[in-house]
Amino acid sequence: MCGIVGYIGTQAATEILLSGLEKLEYRGYDSAGIATIWEGEVNCVRAKGKLHNLRSKLEAVEAPAQIGIGHTRWATHGKPEEYNAHPHMDTAMRVAVVQNGIIENYRELRQDLKQKGYVFRSQTDTEVIPHLIAEFLKNPPSPPLPLLHSSSPFFEAVRQAVNKLEGAFAIACVSADFPDELIAIRQQAPLVIGFGQGEFFCASDTPAIVSHTRAVLTLENGEMARLTPLGVEIYNFAGDRLKKQPRLLNLSPMMVEKQGFKHFMLKEIYEQPGVVRACLEAYFTNDPSSPINLSLPVELYVDLEQIQILACGTSWHAALIGKYLIEQLAGIPTQVHYASEFRYAPSPLTANTLTIGVTQSGETADTLAALAMEKERRSGRELKYQPRLLGITNRPESTLGEMVSQIIDIHGGLEIGVAATKTFIAQLMAFYALALDLAYRRQTISPDQLEEIITSLRQIPKEIEATLERQENLIEQLAHDFAETTDFIFVGRGINFPIALEGALKLKEISYIHAEGYPAGEMKHGPIALLDAKVPVVAIAMPGNVYEKVISNAQEAKARDSRLIGVTPVNDGEAAEIFNDLLPVSNVDELLSPILTVIPLQLLAYHIAARRGLDVDQPRNLAKSVTVE
Ligand code: F6R
Repeated sequence: MCGIVGYIGTQAATEILLSGLEKLEYRGYDSAGIATIWEGEVNCVRAKGKLHNLRSKLEAVEAPAQIGIGHTRWATHGKPEEYNAHPHMDTAMRVAVVQNGIIENYRELRQDLKQKGYVFRSQTDTEVIPHLIAEFLKNPPSPPLPLLHSSSPFFEAVRQAVNKLEGAFAIACVSADFPDELIAIRQQAPLVIGFGQGEFFCASDTPAIVSHTRAVLTLENGEMARLTPLGVEIYNFAGDRLKKQPRLLNLSPMMVEKQGFKHFMLKEIYEQPGVVRACLEAYFTNDPSSPINLSLPVELYVDLEQIQILACGTSWHAALIGKYLIEQLAGIPTQVHYASEFRYAPSPLTANTLTIGVTQSGETADTLAALAMEKERRSGRELKYQPRLLGITNRPESTLGEMVSQIIDIHGGLEIGVAATKTFIAQLMAFYALALDLAYRRQTISPDQLEEIITSLRQIPKEIEATLERQENLIEQLAHDFAETTDFIFVGRGINFPIALEGALKLKEISYIHAEGYPAGEMKHGPIALLDAKVPVVAIAMPGNVYEKVISNAQEAKARDSRLIGVTPVNDGEAAEIFNDLLPVSNVDELLSPILTVIPLQLLAYHIAARRGLDVDQPRNLAKSVTVE
């Protein structure tokens, strides 16, 4: 949550910071600000609300500075008001700081600094940082540091301050008294450094800098970078200089544009056939002796008795489908936990257990903390309890990637819309590959069955294309009917129950309509009391072992006057008689159906929200990567 960006070089910093923040707005967007250094002063401009408010404010300001930092905020401590917006400054207004994360010990630090006379102007945890830096500039520690360390007093003051902080954070700071230095720090919140021609950048994520450079270095936890017009030096928190090499990003500036679509979310929905193709290419081979290519070591699988999956939100829904696939195909008992619950109430330790963390961003604080806790409680025990950790993520270079020994890269490409769409489909593909790999190795499916499933999976991209073509106009029209709707119910069973949850989550997130997903058979145990003519019910009814059951449950809703919308196979005569509206998808095997049934639900949520004129890509109160607990 929150995006930070920094620039030092030869160009005007303000526009570079603003355009970088635009690319990071998905991380938080309730206020924004930038601080530049010009003529010996910090120029700090902040605005409540979206970035365009800050842009308007800056139009009136002359902006020749060549160094600066910027921030887009998702409020944690303190309301989303201008006085809480970053950058924050010290009392004398010489040091400016932006931060992403949480400073856990800020109360004690604040108390101490107040006693020393520092004046606090916000309710944030971040504000302690500029005051601490100012304090260390005023009273540098003795004895002097050895030669190995940076000789910059500003860097040393920042380093001393950082060593006082507890929590998970990424920080960038500048000072009017050191106009040629920008210091960037990483401790459990992402931060990359960009290397241009005589100009250097830092940012929470690569899209913010990819239009300037593709040479980047990802800071690791406990590292700090000193950026000057002459180059970048990397140190650890003890002040030792480190040798590191930048790498080249495989991301083009084009990928960060809407490419003619009205919203990123719609573009990302349309990118799903390509994502499935990329996954098919990566996970499956044409070699019958080794059909699945996940490159997972045998130690992960040996004597495997249990799987537990930790995730949040949409990733948790993907995990539920993963559980279904692993249990039904490979016969391994699998538990799915909300990471936020598991970290404080873990299940009793089980032997020979694979723990999978699913997070598209690779930065979700709860998922990372739950995994870290699991790793710690299993380490040092007898062999059968030792941690076996696997991550499923769109960002192999993320914190998750550093934490677990094995990764399945979901190949989703950059997802900017805050509501996850193509990364969900990509997570499903990873689970198909994993479940099939486990089943193949344990011989719970025959080679013929395996080949049949892989052949059907290879048809999915064109079935998604057909579904998109069939549905787009239809759903756009249907969305008109729900302009005044306040509640929606989604139902499904078996492998499509998590799709009901996902359909409801997408709708709530971007249209702000209250929506719930239920297993269709549970409706009559309570939720059916909610139904009347004002509450539409979306039922996912795909042929398979629960088709007739879902149809009966849908009839029960119809008998309570609900408008019935069916996600059903094309040309299903029975469904056409029962449902008021049909969202038809290709008739595929039930086992593969979630990859198709979710598509109309994504489109339904999208068109209802777009029709209501809402900010589809940046819905209120949300952020794309939730790096706080
Ligand atoms: C829903 C959504 C969130 C995320 C959740 C976990 O559209 O985007 O529910 O799925 O915050 O995020 P990751 O997958 O990054 O761990």
